[in-house]
Amino acid sequence: MAFECAHNPEIRVMPLRIQFARHGGPEVLEAVDVAVSAPGPGELRIRHRAIGINFVDTYLREGLYPVAALPSGLGSEAAGVVEAVGADVGDFAPGDRIAYADGPLGAYAEVRLLPAQHAVKLPPAVDFETAAALLLKGLTVQFLLERTCRPQPDESILWWAAAGGVGLLACQWARAAGIRLIGVVGSDAKATQARAAGAFATIVWPREDVVERVRELTAGAMLRVVYDSVGRDSFTTSLDCLAPFGLLVSFGNASGPVTGVDLGILARKGSLYLTRPTLATHLASRERLDAGAAALFQRVREGALQVHIGQRWPLREAAAAHRALAARQTVGASLLLP
Ligand SMILES: NC(=O)c1ccc[n+]([C@@H]2O[C@H](COP(=O)([O-])OP(=O)(O)OC[C@H]3O[C@@H](n4cnc5c(N)ncnc54)[C@H](OP(=O)(O)O)[C@@H]3O)[C@@H](O)[C@H]2O)c1
Repeated sequence: MAFECAHNPEIRVMPLRIQFARHGGPEVLEAVDVAVSAPGPGELRIRHRAIGINFVDTYLREGLYPVAALPSGLGSEAAGVVEAVGADVGDFAPGDRIAYADGPLGAYAEVRLLPAQHAVKLPPAVDFETAAALLLKGLTVQFLLERTCRPQPDESILWWAAAGGVGLLACQWARAAGIRLIGVVGSDAKATQARAAGAFATIVWPREDVVERVRELTAGAMLRVVYDSVGRDSFTTSLDCLAPFGLLVSFGNASGPVTGVDLGILARKGSLYLTRPTLATHLASRERLDAGAAALFQRVREGALQVHIGQRWPLREAAAAHRALAARQTVGASLLLP
């Protein structure tokens, strides 16, 4: 619990943060009290109201993706209130409601410093929980369906983990665009959720044969594009769902990374294309972030995109949240609440 420094209200001491000093399972996450100083030049000090959990947080914890140094904070996405601004910050003021989806790790915290370039202001109609569950995942769906490849109305695509945080947004986005999203999910309950969100059809995996079901659903034509975030366990199956010259968009590693690929497999399976895109590249400019966030918030305001928050944990219980995510027990977005 944070408290105000008696002598200098500019310094709030000892808010809670989750960090890890070594890589490993959820047990390496520890809750510590850390001093948060006044913001430096170009920085904001933010009091979080809701923190987005993303699967990438588990890759960083495990060491699959590198961190700058240990001990390290965790989390890339949150929403909250600006408490103080540093020198050279023109666009934000104390009291502003903001959210962010990239930048230095450290969202798993009650209070943090953040370079202002990563923050976007929240419109009044978007609450903190919605923003923290939406921004990173929604911007991901946006770049995947609008920039990596642009599926056409009535086109069928395959989307793995269709009932997850990213997945339920993708189902809605696809339905709004007239795209027939075939969602792969881990249970009948998740299939129901994905179809309710807009999936055209679902495949419960591994109980059903994904390639055969895609063959049936496309009357043998197979697909021009597959969106695969499961990685190691689904890679070959995804390639087998593509028509000649098709594109595999591999954008995650929930089952582990795809490594050691013999590129000849792309030739043998029909002159296929393969890309491994990341949101970080797509958010590299401030203009992209502003335009992307504005478009997302507009969709939410219009009711065209609804954020499904399936789980909430107190910030202190981040390890429990990671266990649930890894065990495929979550549906939609997951939040930590400070
Ligand atoms: N490239 C990028 O910039 C980018 C940005 C954001 C997210 N992503 C990726 O998008 C994916 C979805 O992210 P998210 O945060 O929304 O997570 P999520 O979809 O809510 O959770 C991951 C889901 O993956 C499925 N899964 C399949 N095999 C799994 C396994 N062995 N272990 C754990 N889960 C498995 C599970 O769904 P079922 O039980 O239904 O199979 C699970 O619920 C992740 O792979 C993430 O890394 C990539």
